[in-house]
Amino acid sequence: MRPWSTPRAAYLHIPFCRTKCLYCDFNTYAGKDRLIGEYVAALISEIERRAGEAGKEPLQTVYFGGGTPSLLPLTAVRRLLIALARACDVAPDAEITLEVNPGTFGRHYLEGLRALGVSRLSLGVQSLDDETLRRLARTHDAAGAIAAVGLARDAGIRSINLDLIYGLPWQTVTDWREHLRRALETGPDHVSLYALMIEEGTPLSTLVARGRWSVPDDDAVADMYEAALPVLEGAGLLHYEVSNWARPGHASQHNLTYWRNEAYLGFGAGAHSYVGGRRFWNVKPIEGYIRRVARRADLVGGEELLAPDAQLGETAVLALRLRQEGIDFRRFAERFGVHPLGRWGPALEELAGSGLLTVGGERATLTDAGLLVSNEIGTRFLP
Ligand SMILES: C[S@@+](CC[C@H](N)C(=O)[O-])C[C@H]1O[C@@H](n2cnc3c(N)ncnc32)[C@H](O)[C@@H]1O
Ligand code: SF4
Repeated sequence: MRPWSTPRAAYLHIPFCRTKCLYCDFNTYAGKDRLIGEYVAALISEIERRAGEAGKEPLQTVYFGGGTPSLLPLTAVRRLLIALARACDVAPDAEITLEVNPGTFGRHYLEGLRALGVSRLSLGVQSLDDETLRRLARTHDAAGAIAAVGLARDAGIRSINLDLIYGLPWQTVTDWREHLRRALETGPDHVSLYALMIEEGTPLSTLVARGRWSVPDDDAVADMYEAALPVLEGAGLLHYEVSNWARPGHASQHNLTYWRNEAYLGFGAGAHSYVGGRRFWNVKPIEGYIRRVARRADLVGGEELLAPDAQLGETAVLALRLRQEGIDFRRFAERFGVHPLGRWGPALEELAGSGLLTVGGERATLTDAGLLVSNEIGTRFLP
């Protein structure tokens, strides 16, 4: 099995949201729910049409991302999973994740998801400060987010992830530590922390550029990251990726595919696929996507062919994000026919000498000091 050339992971993009959050530049739209039915039908056609792209082995992970996949009716989730099972085959113990927004589902919905085989929920909590949630146009408050975790537990979902953002407008390190502590009191199996990105063209970027809203500076944001580390460790979560923590056995298998730079298939508007060094993505607008599927036209909106050197470098940079796994020398040599020590010997030695990397006989990993400058370290591996 060569997971770098044969996809074992499928991503389904669900581009519908109740409101558009002020910081968000994902390919998602509010006020288009009337298209959900047609969109699901188009997704099923795309899955059927691309059946040949999956390998002979079943998918190990399926990820419904968004947008807000919890706006899909249960029948739609069911039809999509059946289509995938027919086209690509899905392993009986596959990790099936659905991103859900607090306030968009009840217990019956989650029990239905579980019955369909959904084993993991990723809950967008973002913040536990009501004023911040309201300003950012989130559709839930802190109590709603905490209640949502309880619903997921009661429904018997195996694994629950919480997404949280730090570096939010007016946030202090003390606020952040307190919000993180409260979020951890709900006992999540997995936590993803994101530093707020001010994306061009979003209402947030306009508010910040005009000086109406103030966001913490880079030093304060770095302090927030550092402040989070002992709190998460204290809650028994293992720091397995730069921005991700998990209880044993709960690391995201789907996201590991991305960090290992292995192959995956993406279905839906704007969804990216990566197979055999070719990265390609579908057209982004919902209507254009539906139209092209109906006409059996080409869905690809763009592509990028990665030269072997670029693949090698990207794989190393992503691998270093994995704190325990790091750059696995044997795996790397098997995949590229090049040993990392042969390729980057002097750079690895120098970074180890500066205390930023640990280089052993089997792998290279970031030290705690290296973790804080991981982006700078990454540039040493790119062509
Ligand atoms: C694909 S989004 C969808 C999640 C879900 N719709 C929600 O918002 O609750 C996944 C995560 O990306 C993060 N995110 C989105 N925009 C961001 C930004 N501008 N800066 C930092 N994190 C962001 C949020 O934590 C979000 O939960
Ligand atoms: S709910 Fe999630 S995907 Fe939708 S606009 Fe907000 S952050 Fe973006």
